[in-house]
Amino acid sequence: MKKKQVQIEYQKKINLINKLNKLYYDKSQPSVTDEDFDKLKNEILHLEAKYSFLKSESSPSKQIGYKPSKNFKKDFHRVPMLSLANAFTEEDLINFEKKILNFLSKDKNYKIFYSAEPKIDGISASLTYKNGEFVKGLSRGDGKEGEDITANLFTLSDIPKKIKLKDFPEEIDVRGEVFIQNSDFEKLKEKFANPRNAASGSLRQKNPEDTKKIPLKFIAYTFGFEKGLKTNSQFDYLIELNKWGFKTNPLNKLISGVSNLIENYNFVEKQRSNLDFDIDGIVYKVNDFTLQKRLGNVANAPRWAVAHKFSSNKATSQIIDIEIQIGRTGALTPVAKIKPVNIGGVLVSNATLHNEDEIIRKDIRIGDTVVVERAGDVIPHILSVDLKKRLKKSLKFIFPKNCPSCGSKTIKEFNKVTKKKDAVRRCSSEGYKCQKISIEKLKHFVSKEAFNIDGLGKKIVEGFWKLKLIQFPQDIFKLDYNKIEKLEGWGKLSVENLKYSINQKKNISLERFIFALGIRHIGLENAKLLSKYFKSFSNFQSLSMKKNYDDLLNIDGIGETQVSSIKNFFTNETNIEVLNELGKILVIKNATAKKNSGLLNNKSFLVTGKLNGISRAEVKSLIEENSGTTVSSVSNKLNYLIIGEKPTKRKVESAKELKIRIINQDEFLKMLNMTS
Ligand code: IVH
Repeated sequence: MKKKQVQIEYQKKINLINKLNKLYYDKSQPSVTDEDFDKLKNEILHLEAKYSFLKSESSPSKQIGYKPSKNFKKDFHRVPMLSLANAFTEEDLINFEKKILNFLSKDKNYKIFYSAEPKIDGISASLTYKNGEFVKGLSRGDGKEGEDITANLFTLSDIPKKIKLKDFPEEIDVRGEVFIQNSDFEKLKEKFANPRNAASGSLRQKNPEDTKKIPLKFIAYTFGFEKGLKTNSQFDYLIELNKWGFKTNPLNKLISGVSNLIENYNFVEKQRSNLDFDIDGIVYKVNDFTLQKRLGNVANAPRWAVAHKFSSNKATSQIIDIEIQIGRTGALTPVAKIKPVNIGGVLVSNATLHNEDEIIRKDIRIGDTVVVERAGDVIPHILSVDLKKRLKKSLKFIFPKNCPSCGSKTIKEFNKVTKKKDAVRRCSSEGYKCQKISIEKLKHFVSKEAFNIDGLGKKIVEGFWKLKLIQFPQDIFKLDYNKIEKLEGWGKLSVENLKYSINQKKNISLERFIFALGIRHIGLENAKLLSKYFKSFSNFQSLSMKKNYDDLLNIDGIGETQVSSIKNFFTNETNIEVLNELGKILVIKNATAKKNSGLLNNKSFLVTGKLNGISRAEVKSLIEENSGTTVSSVSNKLNYLIIGEKPTKRKVESAKELKIRIINQDEFLKMLNMTS
């Protein structure tokens, strides 16, 4: 079949399945038998597997089970629903605790108690109670705004509708997990890929009567907004929840010490297969609410909690080949092509080998029999080599000394910070001169967090690149659409859509723009810092005129590594040309200043010396929460130097010279109406 014909066939099937879904789920009128439905679904999946160019948002490969109905009202969570950072190893846990102790400025003997709670793999929901009455239930949504699924949640017998106990808070959002028990899932197996999908699908039924038919359970574990909650710790809160009539996990425990956490983890993991619900790890939460408050959040996850994931699934396979991939920064990443093997329901045929050192350390060779691990969302990797099964003729793998794409020398850089050679080998060519690097740069440029151009995915970027339609980022905005329309797989409509999404993205914020450039060591966070510092594209662009980049070190969070990378970027002529061209085409919005409402607005701070009972990190987050800024050196941009024990003399002296106010910890806390 020709590509076009395949596409037409495929689209017809997608349209049909959409129609059937609508009849079934929105109108509750199944119009075909389940077998016919599955047949159609399989045909679509089969076509997608055979022809990689096929894709549709409404494909059953994207939407398993019930399609979320568009009929739910959206509503904001009064307190956002955060997510959790993951830990996989004992080392991760040790680091988790270390960071907490550092942040709180406690010594290593300080005992932190954690509420250790099995992490049920379901759908989280937030239930609002006012004066003891369940008044509203929201799904998590994007964490800020969820769907109003009150009517459906009402059908769950695990959710108390009225709580008359006196100590129940006047107002509270009780949060927990909606899930389906494995034994109940048995009956729904035909319709859903796994219990989680079944829970999510049934919660989103348009008609609550349909939700009611499915035995959904609810386990409570946290809260959002509250008024009148009298507990001071997570574990006490769990006990209260029970008293109020909520179910909590019977395997919840109060534990201190990493070794005890591990012991409990092993114990629960052993029970895992006997439980009637799926758990994918254990959540540890610092028990004391006062400490939780102090620790606060990073991005969208709390500092005071972590999800310790169960060890992944492993499988044995054989390495067929070792390929070298070249990344956007020129890093050469070896990837093992392995005989496809099913690991925990996913067919794995690639495993990362990380870098040259890793191959040497494990002496990994083509033909080796290896144990492959797939943990959480991370890329599968090789755990170990079975030396007994090594082929007699096998040879050590020699890492290429020249870039497989452009032939330039590959080098290992010396890292000034670690004072060691990098483990990663890189192509030494300058950015756009190496084909592979160029393509990767373009993929990054259009990626989600950068320009986020719909319809210009990785495969299409590669295709356009091969056809010489794009070579540099600016070419994306000068595409020859007439030519594209004539290409196989493209039509009038798809070209119109592409044109529309590209034009739409000509308006861009400075931080996204800086991130999109793909300057090494400048990720999203650093791009934000630079954007805030430069404020406008023209200020940023004028970096190319600079002789000395040292003043960038004043931006808190930007270090020597970043500055030297920025300098490299701006001393490359092609990069300057890319910048100039983009500047002509795009409308790059100036960075807007943050809300200035806090007590420390317009004030900048620097800490020197050890403070008492509060870490630098906590001071920094206190300052930022109150609209102040922190700087990393004494200059006339500094307003307050906070001194602790054994301050750096030089800093104090230069502060005095510059007539900068010098304050101690108490004076600082008083500025925030806090006393130590
Ligand atoms: S606490 C700020 N506790 O895990 C803390 N979450 O990755 C965030 N989950 O969306 C929630 N069991 O769906 C918490 N005992 C537990 C949990 C739990 C399962 C899920 C929940 C959340 C996700 C976070």
